[in-house]
Amino acid sequence: MKPYKKTAYINTIGCQMNVYDSEKLAGILAAYGYEISHEMDSADIVVCNTCSIRHKAEEKAFSFLGKFAREKKKRPHLILVMAGCVAQQEGEKAFVRVPHLDIVLGTQAFARFGQHLDAVKSGKQKIVDIEKSDCIFEALPDEAVMDGSRISKFITIMQGCDNYCTYCVVPYVRGRERSRSHNAIVDEIKILANSGIREITLLGQNVNSYGVKEEGISFPQLLEKVSQIEGIARIRFATSHPKDLSMELIHAIRDIDKVCNHLHLPVQSGSNAILRRMNRGYTRETYISRIVDLKKACPGIALSSDIIVGFPGETPEDFNDTMELLKTIEFDSIFAFAYSDRSSAPAAKFSDQVDEQEKMSRLNRLLDFQDLLAEKKNKALIGKVLEVLVEGESQKLHDGFIKTSDQMRQMTGRSASNKVVHFPSESCATGDLVKVRIENAYPHSLWGLTLGAENQ
Ligand code: SAH
Ligand code: SF4
Ligand code: F3S
Repeated sequence: MKPYKKTAYINTIGCQMNVYDSEKLAGILAAYGYEISHEMDSADIVVCNTCSIRHKAEEKAFSFLGKFAREKKKRPHLILVMAGCVAQQEGEKAFVRVPHLDIVLGTQAFARFGQHLDAVKSGKQKIVDIEKSDCIFEALPDEAVMDGSRISKFITIMQGCDNYCTYCVVPYVRGRERSRSHNAIVDEIKILANSGIREITLLGQNVNSYGVKEEGISFPQLLEKVSQIEGIARIRFATSHPKDLSMELIHAIRDIDKVCNHLHLPVQSGSNAILRRMNRGYTRETYISRIVDLKKACPGIALSSDIIVGFPGETPEDFNDTMELLKTIEFDSIFAFAYSDRSSAPAAKFSDQVDEQEKMSRLNRLLDFQDLLAEKKNKALIGKVLEVLVEGESQKLHDGFIKTSDQMRQMTGRSASNKVVHFPSESCATGDLVKVRIENAYPHSLWGLTLGAENQ
């Protein structure tokens, strides 16, 4: 009989940084003898890595953890952990809504997770660690927790944020901006490349200011270093702040082959009055001129953005400015959100809050409009050949697929421009780079046929 191994279940809510952080938590748990499991009902430890960017994300965390009250009574040895941004924000207060929690692990306490686990095991209850830490928690990728089917990984290169946009909790829950050393980043990516990872996404709240405080190498120089790592075929990064987008970075996108021809550049609003109230540090005009520079230097570059609708004081005219901006720029994709009031962020105290129903109606109009724009942009790709990094078998069936070859496996991957591309293929494998001729286009994906022998 197999010896009983304790298991751990991790639920990750929130941004790509949380995905990265959860892997680090998984590494610590593996070192403590836990096997990472997809079964939460039988797990010996359950961790929820939380996000507080919007009210809904925060509620998701509380509702997930709240559900374990009964389980905890049945199995008192179950260890329940709230980690990440809500943990940092709430501290002791987390116990009011989730009294059965064992550990509240703030965003800068991850390096101390192991020691808190030991303390719980020796009988300590209700541990809260929301202490600040000057150094960044560094842990190398752990083979024991690597998902072998993945070919793409996120790497956090900097933590925190110094920009203080008035709607945003990040500076309060993630602390001041700090950059990791380039050597540590390169070493980590080398390990990932050796284990078969082909694409990496470098993460920071504002990658343009990477290394500035530390007087280290610049972000474009880091891209150059990372591009020299053998085995890595594609480099992506997020997020760039429009106010700090430099010509040096634009040239790095143009000149470094492995850096994908795509930029995520959140604009948030198309109205100057709203941008000012958001403390974004740029105007609609300077944003557009950056895009002009970018399109000139990198023809065909794909653009994506984040938009907030219904920010306090947003009039129908301000909202219309945002719609107009979408038309002017023609983003390939956007993430759009209804403004969510966060009590720790300054905008919570602003007057002229927009009515919830009005926010939702603006959000739906914006998303519908963007779908039309994106579909038009994607349709222009029909007949073109894109290089696709294969991510695996497609979960969804596409109409084109059913029509042409219902016998074949349907695969999915992404183009360098970050478009999701589905295509039938029996021969290609996860991690392959294949050429696909686009046959059909939708607002959020493309469908095509490989140029390999099988489809000719
Ligand atoms: N550092 C990045 C984004 C971080 S948060 C940047 O500067 O763009 C990701 C996105 O969440 C933001 O771009 C913003 O569009 C959205 N967001 C942040 N706070 C929000 C709030 N209070 N309500 C609604 N959306 C919010
Ligand atoms: Fe938040 Fe602004 Fe920092 Fe982005 S740049 S994380 S939106 S404060
Ligand atoms: Fe959410 Fe924290 Fe990321 S608030 S968006 S998980 S930095």
